[in-house]
Amino acid sequence: MRLSLLCLALSSHVIASVIQLPLILQSESQVTITSGGNALVSSEALQGDIDVENLLDRAKHLFELAKLSTDDYAHPTRVIGSKGHIATIDYIYSTIASLGDYYTITNQTFDAVSGNVFESRLVLGSHVPKSATPMSLTPPTSNKKPVFGPLVLVDNDGCEQADYPSNISGAIAFIRRGTCTFGEKSALAGKAGAVAAVIYNSGEGSLSGTLGEPSPYHVATFGLSYKDSQGYIEDLQEGKSIYSSAYIDSIVEKIETVNIIAQTKGGDAENCVMLGGHSDSVAEGPGINDDGSGSLTLLEVATQLTKYSVNNCVRFGWWAGEEEGLLGSDYYVSMLSNEENWKIRLFMDYDMLASPNYANQVYNATNEVNPTGSEELRDLYIKFYQSHNQNYTLIPFDGRSDYDAFIKHGIPGGGIAAGAEGVKTKEEAEMFGGTAGEWFDPCYHQLCDTVDNLNLTAWELNTKLVAHSVATYAKSFQGFPERSSIESKVAQKPFYWRGHKLVM
Ligand SMILES: *[C@@H]1O[C@H](CO)[C@@H](O)[C@H](O)[C@H]1NC(C)=O
Ligand SMILES: *[C@@H]1O[C@H](CO)[C@@H](O)[C@H](O)[C@H]1NC(C)=O
Ligand SMILES: *[C@@H]1O[C@H](CO)[C@@H](O)[C@H](O)[C@H]1NC(C)=O
Ligand SMILES: *[C@@H]1O[C@H](CO)[C@@H](O)[C@H](O)[C@H]1NC(C)=O
Ligand SMILES: *[C@@H]1O[C@H](CO)[C@@H](O)[C@H](O)[C@H]1NC(C)=O
Ligand SMILES: [Zn+2]
Repeated sequence: MRLSLLCLALSSHVIASVIQLPLILQSESQVTITSGGNALVSSEALQGDIDVENLLDRAKHLFELAKLSTDDYAHPTRVIGSKGHIATIDYIYSTIASLGDYYTITNQTFDAVSGNVFESRLVLGSHVPKSATPMSLTPPTSNKKPVFGPLVLVDNDGCEQADYPSNISGAIAFIRRGTCTFGEKSALAGKAGAVAAVIYNSGEGSLSGTLGEPSPYHVATFGLSYKDSQGYIEDLQEGKSIYSSAYIDSIVEKIETVNIIAQTKGGDAENCVMLGGHSDSVAEGPGINDDGSGSLTLLEVATQLTKYSVNNCVRFGWWAGEEEGLLGSDYYVSMLSNEENWKIRLFMDYDMLASPNYANQVYNATNEVNPTGSEELRDLYIKFYQSHNQNYTLIPFDGRSDYDAFIKHGIPGGGIAAGAEGVKTKEEAEMFGGTAGEWFDPCYHQLCDTVDNLNLTAWELNTKLVAHSVATYAKSFQGFPERSSIESKVAQKPFYWRGHKLVM
């Protein structure tokens, strides 16, 4: 069903142009008139069309849409499956549709998993460890009731079935972080008969992550800090018994959600520049910076672009389910035939462009470890900031946003961000202003990610950067490497993040 929806949209476009063959002369002359009226896009012109007031108006509207979820979530959010997210999709779709026939719009529906933890409690011996945090997408404990059993230490990192002693059956598995994903550990614990699992950190800090793709073997799973775990490990190693209880009331459900794709009808359809942002937010808040800023920037650039003609096709993607683990972009790339994959010359990721305590962060996407062309894109961003007399920093290109699937399938990728939960250093405060010692986005993944959580100076500059990147490649790929492979250099590299969530 889903695949055929996409094929239908693409093939009906092709059929339409074939059927209209006898009219081609007529429509060609019309095209000439239009393209005569529409100047070829230039970076300067498209940047000049960016008005921060338009962006701000869109952000205010988006917050109103997030409020539609309040009945169901007790606060504004645009998490997938919510009314706020459905309204966001409608808003993106209708905005592009209102631009006339400049774009071909495709809805790409896919199955996603949505999870919510309502209540949880972990008691180890007679203590309630403070750092215990239920993993995202954890199933509830049996019958959504507390379960009881001894705490049993798992051997090694708990990545092999043999690491689970036979007395784990009916017990709560105590597993060290490392080597394999939280989801794999939870499933192995479940297979061995554990009633719940606790994964403790092997490094500093608390441990919060996701089990990822649901498995029938998953059991209710918590993360625990290294510090909180040490006393229990010592006691267990001395053979002491720690009778414990775990309780999680949660839901993991399958829903349908939608990617919106808009592609210019003009330009060489064999050579597309693609860019994307995500339409969804986390459940905890309205996500106006994350990623309202990026997705609205795309909407505004797509709107302004209609004033111009393009030499190369421009394709915009608004991904759903990014916050649940890059679901939409993963799905999109997985459905591309080799032939379609080949048409995408590069992918540019725009996620969080207006962080209040911002830095100009450029993903350090080098050709050494990424598809060739990623580095040329990185350097385009660097030159942009330099030419605007702005400082920038290079940040790891480590799979935390929607570029992940593209670079894993051989498509050059890159992007910029204004910063998430990282702490601004003293040096960065000198480079960008703002406050050292605080997060780039102090409202990251929280209720306060509202219209007030935007730095308009950063947003305007970064939207101009997006306009520059679109105009540059819409005009020409001269000097940009040809696609060389759909194989990836990065496929084997272990990623610790899936979207914004830790998986191992
Ligand atoms: C695509 O989604 C939009 C927004 O939800 C909707 O208005 C439109 O009818 C859908 N189009 C198709 C062909 O399904
Ligand atoms: C479970 O078995 C291991 C040995 O395989 C032992 O060290 C541990 O004390 C046992 N735990 C309980 C609660 O019986
Ligand atoms: C960028 O990545 C390359 C590896 O591809 C590495 O050698 C270099 O040190 C990185 N630069 C920064 C500033 O992180
Ligand atoms: C760039 O950073 C330097 C400090 O490293 C600072 O002196 C300068 O003012 C910054 N430039 C801008 C435009 O903020
Ligand atoms: C945006 O950031 C700049 C530099 O840190 C600061 O001067 C300005 O006041 C900020 N603007 C807003 C609206 O927060
Ligand atoms: Zn994001």
